[in-house]
This record gives sequence, C-alpha cells and structure tokens, in this order.
Amino acid sequence: MMISPICFFIFSLVLSSSYAAVQDFCVADYTALQGPAGYSCKDPAKVTVDDFVYSGLRVPGNTSNIHKFGFVPAVVAQFPGLNGLGVSVARTDLGVGGVIPFHTHRGATEVLIVAEGSSVLAGFIDSNNKVYLKTLNKGDSMIFPRGLFHFAVNQGDTPVLMYASLSSENPGLDVLETSLFKNDLSTDLISKTTLLDKSQIRKLKRLLGGTN
Ligand SMILES: *[C@@H]1O[C@H](CO)[C@@H](O)[C@H](O)[C@H]1NC(C)=O
Repeated sequence: MMISPICFFIFSLVLSSSYAAVQDFCVADYTALQGPAGYSCKDPAKVTVDDFVYSGLRVPGNTSNIHKFGFVPAVVAQFPGLNGLGVSVARTDLGVGGVIPFHTHRGATEVLIVAEGSSVLAGFIDSNNKVYLKTLNKGDSMIFPRGLFHFAVNQGDTPVLMYASLSSENPGLDVLETSLFKNDLSTDLISKTTLLDKSQIRKLKRLLGGTN
C-alpha cells in the first residue's frame, strides 16, 4: 500500500512532537514550582500576546568587565512564551578588543549572527580537537554545533553587536575559565587535572574571584 506524502508528513509531526499535538503552547507559569522538565503551563485563559514578546534585547549588555563582553539572555527565565518550544535568543555586545571566552551551552546548538561591527574572529573546537576559525563581518552567521566549546574576539575597531539563536529554551552558559577558576576547587586539584602551573592557577583565581 502506498502511504501518501501528506499522511507521512502528519505522521512525522506527531512522532517528532507529541507536545505539539496536544496544545499550541505552554507559557511558563513563574508562580508554580519548577520541575526537571522546566516550568508548568500558565492557565491558557490568562495568556496574552505579551507572553510572546520580549523587549529586553533592546538594551546593550554591560561591557565594563575584563573581557569587554556584555551578554543579555532572552531564555525561558525572562521570556515565558519560550517554555517547551526548545528555542531561545541572546544578545552579545563586544567592546573594541572584546572577547567571548570559551564556553558551551548545556548541549544546545547556537547560530550566531553579526548585526553590527566587523572582523569578529569566531571559532569552535570539535571532539577530535580540530579548530574551526572564521573572521565574520556584519551580516555573517556561524553555527556552533551542540556541546562544543566556542568563542569570539572583536578584532575590528568598532563595537560589535551579535545575536545568538539557541536550540533550547534554557541553554545555560558554561564558561570554561570560570568553571575552573571562579570557585573553591583547590589549586592542587586544578593543577593535577589540567597540568597548569600552580602560580598561573593562583593568578587566574585572583583575577576571577576564586579561592583555595
Ligand atoms: C557595568 O558593570 C560595572 C562593573 O560591574 C558596574 O560598575 C557598572 O555600574 C555597570 N553599568 C551599568 C550601566 O549597569
């Protein structure tokens, strides 16, 4: 028997997202407790268009820091309509010479878009330690596949504005250097597990607010 393409298409949709088959959306209810799967759904009768609109990305991120890097997330914690939909966005601002340090996003894939500025050296490292590097200019996009460490450096002579689209409503931001140096993990253990010199570790702990 032939299965018609339209039946196959509908069948695939049902298989790929049982959630979509039972309701249009599940706007985050910030007043209820959060479970492992995230927020529960706000009463649909109380949902308004404003649950699906967010203006926080109008405001630049604060670049007065060691990396000249400002980050403004629009994830489910700020943007309730994203709940359950598996997408989010963020705004990043880089001063001249600014850096987005090595980081990853709890398994989410990212697409980065350069909205303003030029000469952004962006890159990621794959599981075979191969480096993928490209200089991006206004209008360019680059993909950072899920789970892989990535970074960017503003090598241009003007500030940079970029937007990131992420394949999770709650992608997290795990920065390599703060994971290593902005807590009380002991210098000895960091040295053993990374082969870095203890003096360098102490220096980075002082810089980033770590102890031990
Ligand atoms: C930006 O961050 C710096 C350093 O934390 C702080 O002193 C300053 O008040 C912040 N500026 C704004 C506009 O929030």
